[in-house]
Amino acid sequence: MGTSTRSQTGGKPSSQTASAPGKVILFGEHAVVHARPAVAVAVTQVRATATVEPAPPGSGLTLVAPDVEKRISLSSAPQDEPLAAAARHTLTHLSSPQPDATVTISSTIPIASGMGSGAAVSTALVRALAGFLGHTLEPTQVSAIVFEVEKIHHGTPSGIDNTVIAFEQPIYFMHDHPIQRLTVGQPFTLLIGDTGTRSPTRRVVAHVRRAWERDPAHYDALFDQIGDIADEGRRVIEAGDVDALGPLMDENHALLIDLGVSSPQLDELVDAARFSGALGAKLSGAGQGGNMIALVESDLVEDVAEELMDAGAVRVIQTRITTTD
Ligand code: MEV
Repeated sequence: MGTSTRSQTGGKPSSQTASAPGKVILFGEHAVVHARPAVAVAVTQVRATATVEPAPPGSGLTLVAPDVEKRISLSSAPQDEPLAAAARHTLTHLSSPQPDATVTISSTIPIASGMGSGAAVSTALVRALAGFLGHTLEPTQVSAIVFEVEKIHHGTPSGIDNTVIAFEQPIYFMHDHPIQRLTVGQPFTLLIGDTGTRSPTRRVVAHVRRAWERDPAHYDALFDQIGDIADEGRRVIEAGDVDALGPLMDENHALLIDLGVSSPQLDELVDAARFSGALGAKLSGAGQGGNMIALVESDLVEDVAEELMDAGAVRVIQTRITTTD
């Protein structure tokens, strides 16, 4: 769970650092926005980090994100500025006035690529700020605060990103249901291939919603099928039946194509992964760009990664999924 360090000056925290992982959705994206189940895992190889340091008295809270050239004073930030919103919701939750401090944020998670970069940045910020103020928040509390910020990023988020990132564990998720952590019966390896095309979740989720409003029967049937795959995916993950996972990923990808959220680049990477020996592959996250995932046996990792790069991936991340991930 998000690491944090603290140095002490006269018993008071003088600085606080927290981090949060990225995530991928194994099964159920989009359908999860429409009340079906989904399965997601944390990706610890990429992380967002926030450090809070004291600032001179009267300076208030400043949020700095050098990677994206942002410097924001909390007092003058608009209500819908996501970093400011994360700070404001944290202060409200803790009934705390604005401290004199500077929060510096950085992240190695690709932006707008389906890996939860916005939720991870918010999670790191919430934890570091709470720590600076002398509080340790439970994952459920962090997740609830970050969900409020996710609404600014995504419009109508399901809540899966903030949940899997705050808990940093494989989860089975349904909106408005208690979170269920998954026990991974047999660890498995995923390759995550990035198309390099940014795709804002808000836009793709709105696109699917419009399609569903035009033809609810058709889209509800697709959501039901995807939800059934998520249920089955959960069962085989817990049973350690890795061989059964690949075909489920392939089926889920086919349904995501039917939903209209794949793209030629994503399909090309998915095909390249399967061609070079992956047990299954699918887009992951909102789609229409961003990342895909492939289930790969250990001895084929290098071959499949190379094939993904040849097929146009801008980077490939390898991650091992276990219960403690
Ligand atoms: C984004 O990671 C997954 C979506 O299902 C959106 C959401 O669940 O909020 C596309």
